[in-house]
Amino acid sequence: MEKNFKRILVTSALPYANGPVHIGHLAGVYVPADIYTRYQRLKGRDVLFIGGSDEHGVPITLKARKEGVTPQDIVDRYHSIIKKSFEEFGISFDIYSRTSSATHRQMASDFFRKLYDKGEFIEKTSEQYYDEEAGQFLADRYITGTCPHCKNERAYGDQCEACGTSLNATDLINPKSTISGSTPVLKETKHWYLPLDKHESFLRKWILEDHPEWKPNVYGQCKSWLDLGLQPRAVSRDLDWGVPVPVEGAEGKVLYVWFDAPIGYISNTKELRPDDWELYWKDSDTKLVHFIGKDNIVFHCIVFPAMLKAEGSYTLPENVPANEFLNLEGDKISTSRNWAVWLHEYLAEFPGKQDVLRYVLTANAPETKDNDFTWKDFQARNNNELVAILGNFINRSMVLTHKYFEGRVPVCGEFTDYDKSTLQEFADVKERLENCIENYRFREALKEAMNLARIGNKYLADTEPWKLTKTDMTRVATILNLALQISANLSIAFEPFLPFSAQKIRTMLDLNKTDWDMLGRVDILAEGTQLATPVLLFEKIEDSVVEGQIQKLQETKIANEKANHQAEPIAPTIDFEDFLKLDIRVGKVIECQKVPKADKLLQFRIDDGLGGRTIVSGIAKHYAPEELVGKQVCFIANLAPRKLKGIESQGMILSAEDADGRLIVITPADEVTPGSCVK
Ligand code: MF3
Ligand code: ZN
Repeated sequence: MEKNFKRILVTSALPYANGPVHIGHLAGVYVPADIYTRYQRLKGRDVLFIGGSDEHGVPITLKARKEGVTPQDIVDRYHSIIKKSFEEFGISFDIYSRTSSATHRQMASDFFRKLYDKGEFIEKTSEQYYDEEAGQFLADRYITGTCPHCKNERAYGDQCEACGTSLNATDLINPKSTISGSTPVLKETKHWYLPLDKHESFLRKWILEDHPEWKPNVYGQCKSWLDLGLQPRAVSRDLDWGVPVPVEGAEGKVLYVWFDAPIGYISNTKELRPDDWELYWKDSDTKLVHFIGKDNIVFHCIVFPAMLKAEGSYTLPENVPANEFLNLEGDKISTSRNWAVWLHEYLAEFPGKQDVLRYVLTANAPETKDNDFTWKDFQARNNNELVAILGNFINRSMVLTHKYFEGRVPVCGEFTDYDKSTLQEFADVKERLENCIENYRFREALKEAMNLARIGNKYLADTEPWKLTKTDMTRVATILNLALQISANLSIAFEPFLPFSAQKIRTMLDLNKTDWDMLGRVDILAEGTQLATPVLLFEKIEDSVVEGQIQKLQETKIANEKANHQAEPIAPTIDFEDFLKLDIRVGKVIECQKVPKADKLLQFRIDDGLGGRTIVSGIAKHYAPEELVGKQVCFIANLAPRKLKGIESQGMILSAEDADGRLIVITPADEVTPGSCVK
């Protein structure tokens, strides 16, 4: 059924250039796209891998305004940070460009103009908020006000982050422009809309009938969009940052970021291949594959295809293997809450360990459902799989060859039946591995590749060549020759997944050129080849290291809780007489000890100026007893006595509860006479 394409065009979502990239980006989009592309290259196929930064859109302008710089400053900064992170992680783009490039502006502008000239848009006038002081229309994000649902006073014009409701700017109570602070007014404005409804029946057939093989999460999302019925979508905005709408009378209007960004794939292809880019976009022998995250499905499966179809000369994607989301230690990754592992920080803390992260993110890829990254799992996979299986096998084969054959590939003798069955297992894995990658099942593919290393490990463990060195060097030579050939195979099988380690293996084996079809062969290395000195591919990661990372996240969490803390609502009003009923005093702690069998309680002896009293207080989690001895505390002196764990508590010590639940005892600002009243 699968068509034989002449060439493949791989695109990966263009990340917004308004922040650095994190593990979620890598796991969801860039590592899978890179695995796929590297595999295709090894297969010798004509493949291009297109990337770039998405540099338009309102959030970029907001960030620029906040920092008092231009949007161009923002995108320049993040474009280079992002580009560098991708390079460092071996994401092997053929081009990584940007949507602020001249090529792109021209391409996006021409694309719009062509649809405009063909009459593919409808024009509509609607009322939008306008800031009269600033003299500009306001994007929804530029308007804040009170949420009509939960009364949060800091809701945005597109969403209330307190209750999660998505809003229209006109829903806000008491709207304010974030630019000037003034109250915006409604004003008419004209925009261009892509009538998706017009393309609905085409899309329905193309996706639901022609592409039943798409991943269930993708197919399912498309189906529910289509079943809801498609509406015209505005493709222009009133904004001064973006590609100008190339139509007379459209001053102050730019293309909507989701209109221009996917055209960026085309622009970047053109920048890479100015002469024959059209082959990759307009020839039906090209297979177009979009790698994206699930929040981009509608744009890549419905809106962009409708645009391409309306234009008329482009081919549509063959597949859109979108992934779900990766969580971090059980929580949604969030840039604003700094809940992420940033790639540049990871590299600073784990230099040279790109492949470890690539491995863990692939092994845990959110291919069919959301998945979780945890540091414990990171450590376990490194120690139990990369070190113990792959690293161990390569190292043993190398070290034994150096020990018994001066580092030269030994002569292969007759294969035993056991050797042959090992090789057969190997051959079976190759086919499964290919099948998985071709069908975008990278987690499973990685498992198969690891299986090859397991087979090798088992082979050495079973044949125990080190025990035969006194008796049968011919057999030792055969075993090690085979082990080295298996190592060479591993360098091919792992190349798409762990490119840095695969290169290290090739260097050790003095292997220059490899291609996928060598996989399964046992004559890759010529007898007598001098091997290089072995290097360790992976090293154990200690508990203290991952505990440090977990600690760091814990601190982020506490900082966030404090930042988001809303003070408790004030209790109902009381009369002055009610207040006078409370007798609050200052006392001095004379003794303090833990209450046996009660992990929360401390027992105090307090000097109250009247002969002393005993108070039991639930603050043992927050103070060690000796910390409080000698301190002055405030307590309620006329509270009816209560028994706690058999001890009579004569009052209550006052403390404040912090945002993170920590209790802090209240002490007077200066030393006072024990028994003084607090009024
Ligand atoms: N910048 C978008 C995001 O991060 C993705 C854009 S993909 C493209 O969600 F196709 F529009 F380029
Ligand atoms: Zn709300």
